[in-house]
Amino acid sequence: MSRRLYIDLGLSNTREMLSRAYSGGYAVPGYNFNNMEQLQAIIQACAETRSPVILQVSKGARKYANRILLRHMAMGAVQMVKDFAESIPIALHLDHGDSFELCKACVDDGFSSIMIDGSFLPYDENVALTRRVVEYAHTFDVSVEGELGVLAGIEEDVGSREAHYTNPNDVEDFVEKTGVDSLAISIGTSHGAYKFKLRPGEPTPTLRFDILEEVADRLPGFPIVLHGASSVPQRYIELINKYGGSIKGAVGIPEDQLRKAAMSAVCKINIDTDGRLAFTAMVRKCLSENPEEFDPRKYLGEARKELIEMIKNKNINVLGSAWKA
Ligand code: G3H
Ligand code: 13P
Ligand code: ZN
Repeated sequence: MSRRLYIDLGLSNTREMLSRAYSGGYAVPGYNFNNMEQLQAIIQACAETRSPVILQVSKGARKYANRILLRHMAMGAVQMVKDFAESIPIALHLDHGDSFELCKACVDDGFSSIMIDGSFLPYDENVALTRRVVEYAHTFDVSVEGELGVLAGIEEDVGSREAHYTNPNDVEDFVEKTGVDSLAISIGTSHGAYKFKLRPGEPTPTLRFDILEEVADRLPGFPIVLHGASSVPQRYIELINKYGGSIKGAVGIPEDQLRKAAMSAVCKINIDTDGRLAFTAMVRKCLSENPEEFDPRKYLGEARKELIEMIKNKNINVLGSAWKA
């Protein structure tokens, strides 16, 4: 095996984290970040709740934040934990890699974990692309997440109009042929803030736990990943709308369903939208209540404070990852 580049940065791959989550009946959080305040909030909240954490960088985030800077931010995050806790396992993970070249670049930059999302491809092409990424990443002991089934939802860089649930008949073949370390599946979650179109009074639909159970039966002990798992807290939507925003019909995954998933074979739960909502709500509130304010540290500081509370709550009350570091 070649040298593990991410070890120099103080990072861990996700293999042990996810295997401990499987046997412990909780899920490790995958939180996305794009800037310093988001990263500080994730690290502080996870250190204070002693939770393992997967720091997620999307293709769009990599473009936004600069790849060199990202590498140093991740290294800084590992050092920063010492201010709050002895240490917690931290992975730096590429979220929704869509090509071999992007995945290779992230391995070469010191990422400890990679997602290759070939779910937009025909099955055989997804297998071939994922296999190629696994062969390269495993040379450096970097863990790989694959995806089968398509999530609905449109975001800037990631998205699809329609959901296609994962077919449980495919999962053993996919895992065996590709050698992936974890598998993202589609059971009714979707990316973004508009996960379901509900008529007035209509309850939120239930995730397809039957598919999850079938997948888990076919892959005993194997870690499953849930994307699109934000719960879209309505208090943030109300704050955003109260302070000049306009977000209508936003609905997320109810927390009790996420708790149930976290206790099953789901070992990693991805959350991005909730962080964006918490951040935007507090920036809007702070600027609206203090129209004379123009110091970014004031309004970004308020956003960071709220994000810390939101993440602590997720780790303790939803994912169950608190105190598992
Ligand atoms: O699943 C997608 C993540 O929320 C990343 O979104 O591509 O806009 O950075 P992004
Ligand atoms: P949300 O949009 O529900 O936060 O999902 C994030 C995600 O899946 C990142 O990969
Ligand atoms: Zn995702």
